[in-house]
Amino acid sequence: MKKRVMVDMSATLIHHGHIRLLKKASKYGDVIVGLTTDEEIKKKKGYDPELSFDERKEILESIKYVKEVVPTPWLIDEAVLEKYNIDLLVHGHDNSNQVSEDKLIIFPRTEGISSTILRERVMKAYAQKKSQNILLTPGPATTTYSVKLAQIVDDICPREKEFGDVMKWISQELTSIVADNKKYTTVLFGGSGTAAVESILTSVIPEDKKVLIINNGAYGERMCQISNRYGINFSEFKSSPIQPIDFNKLEEVIKKEENLSHLAVVHNETTTGLLNDLNKIGELAEKYNLDLIVDAMSSYGAIPIDMEKQNIKYLAASSNKNLQGMAGVSFVIAKKEALEKLKNVKPKSFYLSLYEQYNFFEKHNQTRFTPPVQTMYALKQAIVELKEEGVENRYKRYSKSWETLTQGLKKLGLQYVVDDKHHSKIITSILLPENLDFDDLHDYFYEKGFTIYPGKVKDLNTFRIANIGDIDYRDIERFLELFAEYLNHKD
Ligand SMILES: Cc1ncc(COP(=O)(O)O)c(C=O)c1O
Repeated sequence: MKKRVMVDMSATLIHHGHIRLLKKASKYGDVIVGLTTDEEIKKKKGYDPELSFDERKEILESIKYVKEVVPTPWLIDEAVLEKYNIDLLVHGHDNSNQVSEDKLIIFPRTEGISSTILRERVMKAYAQKKSQNILLTPGPATTTYSVKLAQIVDDICPREKEFGDVMKWISQELTSIVADNKKYTTVLFGGSGTAAVESILTSVIPEDKKVLIINNGAYGERMCQISNRYGINFSEFKSSPIQPIDFNKLEEVIKKEENLSHLAVVHNETTTGLLNDLNKIGELAEKYNLDLIVDAMSSYGAIPIDMEKQNIKYLAASSNKNLQGMAGVSFVIAKKEALEKLKNVKPKSFYLSLYEQYNFFEKHNQTRFTPPVQTMYALKQAIVELKEEGVENRYKRYSKSWETLTQGLKKLGLQYVVDDKHHSKIITSILLPENLDFDDLHDYFYEKGFTIYPGKVKDLNTFRIANIGDIDYRDIERFLELFAEYLNHKD
């Protein structure tokens, strides 16, 4: 009579390691698989197996080395062997089954494979998957699967040191993109990008001083709105939303203003894609001893910025644009020396007080209030991916997409509002032909997996296409093909 040999396994994800084990065991007699039940797996490992007991049983029964499959608990003891008339038990060298030695055969495991390894491989493949939805919006932008998945973490209290260390790392990495950590630091907030801009404006301008805000688009306008709301002393320098700033005029205004202490500008005006010249603005700030505030929301992480060289004291950005992270983290990068001086400036906001947030983080490695925990983990992964690609290469990728876009637009007979010389190559504001309706265009693209964005230029009927995020020129080519089809149907 052939011996009855039990091989106990949970085989939640069946792989060649299992097959090799079963083949070897079959040399000793008829193989009876002791298959761990779903309940036991849940109890011992904490998850529902990917394949249910019945599914695992069906697969195992069809393997030629297997005679029978029976349900077993996590650990096999003499009682189980007796119940199924088993002569020998086969297990890997991690055996903890309680059976007498003369009935036990230990086999080494197959190197390099296990359900855990397979699960990790599946996660990796999943992470490499491209998003089905292409966001041609100026943020949130299309993210990688690995950034999406990075949000799935064990629950953690953000007051734990482990989480503080994650934020410290994020803060330092964010600083190093544009400045030296010795002289500059990054202050993190939970909030959208506007929170960072609002934090700066409400925290840094003393009661008896004034900020001059360069307004050449919706985001310059927003800085004026924020200042208005909080009663911050400001003057507005209005400039064309599509033409570069007239620096002579700007200098004249600076000269005339009294009590001016700060100058504020949006680097890449996301309204149009007009790129304001930070070198020239920084020179003016230095010449007139003004602290320069830059809203770099849609340039940071792609377009090179050097805070020290460009005399920038405070810079605002967020997690969900060129960083390709999730929305919810807003941050201010600032010169430490300037932050220290804020001790003597009364902030107008409680939550967004820049000095208090900075000081608290310096002391405790914590934000003052609950941070967006999972968004931070996604941001950490997004930074890892930015470092892998490199800021320069990221901008090259974006630029190639932008060139593909603008060449394609020209072929389609469409015009964009800012000339190439002053363009950020990040977001493009396109004139909507009179016979087209934005909502209809939007819905057409949305159904095909592309999200486009409405325009924001006063007195011009425009829509916007951003070429940031985890996309490349091929996605833009596909977008252009679809656009051509749309226009053909309209004719
Ligand atoms: C230049 C600029 N500033 C500020 C913001 C506001 O950011 P949020 O919508 O995340 O508050 C944006 C958003 O697009 C922006 O492009």
